[in-house]
Amino acid sequence: MRNYIFDRWREVARNYGFVEWDGPVLEPTALYTKKSGPEIVAQLFNFTDKGEREVAMRPELTPTLARVVAAHDREFKKPLKWFSIPQCFRYEKQQRGRLREHFQFNADIIGEASLGADVESIALCVDLLRSFGFAANDFVVRVSDREFWIDFLRTHGVAEESWQEILQVIDKSEREPREKTATKLGALAEPTFKILDGEGGSGKLDEIVAALKVRGLADFVEVDLGIVRGLAYYSGVVFEAFDRAGKLRALAGGGRYDNLIHHLSDGAVSLPAIGFAMGDVVLGELIGEIPAAKEKLEKAIAAQQNLDIYVVIAKEERRADALAQIQALRDRGWRVDYPLTPAKVGKQFQTAEQLGARAAILFGDEWPQVALKDLATGKQELIECDLLLARLKSMLRETAAPG
Ligand code: HAM
Repeated sequence: MRNYIFDRWREVARNYGFVEWDGPVLEPTALYTKKSGPEIVAQLFNFTDKGEREVAMRPELTPTLARVVAAHDREFKKPLKWFSIPQCFRYEKQQRGRLREHFQFNADIIGEASLGADVESIALCVDLLRSFGFAANDFVVRVSDREFWIDFLRTHGVAEESWQEILQVIDKSEREPREKTATKLGALAEPTFKILDGEGGSGKLDEIVAALKVRGLADFVEVDLGIVRGLAYYSGVVFEAFDRAGKLRALAGGGRYDNLIHHLSDGAVSLPAIGFAMGDVVLGELIGEIPAAKEKLEKAIAAQQNLDIYVVIAKEERRADALAQIQALRDRGWRVDYPLTPAKVGKQFQTAEQLGARAAILFGDEWPQVALKDLATGKQELIECDLLLARLKSMLRETAAPG
């Protein structure tokens, strides 16, 4: 399952022209305390190392990315389009969809401030989910804009020191009773609820939806200003993907973080950036819930595990000849297996079927001829061993061996 998920992630990211990279698992704790926000800091797996340094196992990749890009700014042509599949660690209360370690696909575009990058990032998130066999009625990407809320806070005269706290309250409001949110927001409660109930819009978000519509992806996205995101470094468009049934935690989340590289490099490098991450845990749960996605997974796993050829050794005297052939077949890229120890012929054919082999080759009394059996049709023919490779190539055409 994990390999299947990673394969789809890599395939779609490469289709979009993203290049894979990775960073270290261990980072200075300060990298996260600086800008990620209190929620993630509370979830750190951190300790003091033997050199008395404060270090933490990465809870996310974004600060590492910002650090690496700032340090090597001149070496890379912009915009950078990078993806990675880090293992991340968060000291969270373990529950459905949230574990203490998980793998997280990350894709980020660095050095591009235009809305085109935001659209590309959301489109990639949609296409990744589509690649697992999910349809528009299975998931939705909710898109919002933190800048909209920052303008709102400014207009209402809220001091900048309080923005982060209020944004967190708005982010949590969907999961909390209104009265509780209202108490936390005070005078801001009424205008905030008006917006959350659909009053007020954003030209920027309309533009994003229109651009996604052109690509045929509009059914997979919704504008929802209730999405604010917990991480502190987001500065503009933010988005999160959820299952439509609303049963699971977020599948993916991301947004624009135009100031993070500037802050983490103490002003040395300034680059706009946008990206998101998708975890393997919730994704795995949704695959289990959606029949089309489950079927796709099972087919892919079967296709990966199935053998092309099982070699049946009917006479032990022929084992050496069989192994010479097996080596030649494997060298040509066929997936081949055989019994390591003597076994009854019937048992060997049974194993061939269990392993999903498409053909069996029997080495026995007929040598130097061998019996070639098509396990799908049951048809069997005797063939000179020298002609075997050519015959197999035409028989197993659909999975033609490389080279
Ligand atoms: P995040 O929303 O904290 O964003 O995490 C992204 C995704 O990782 C979540 O939607 C979820 O699927 C998965 N995830 C997070 N924590 C856990 C956990 N404890 N167990 C299982 N899955 C989890 C970030 O991490 C940002 N750094 C994303 C980003 C990249 N923003 C810009 N670029």
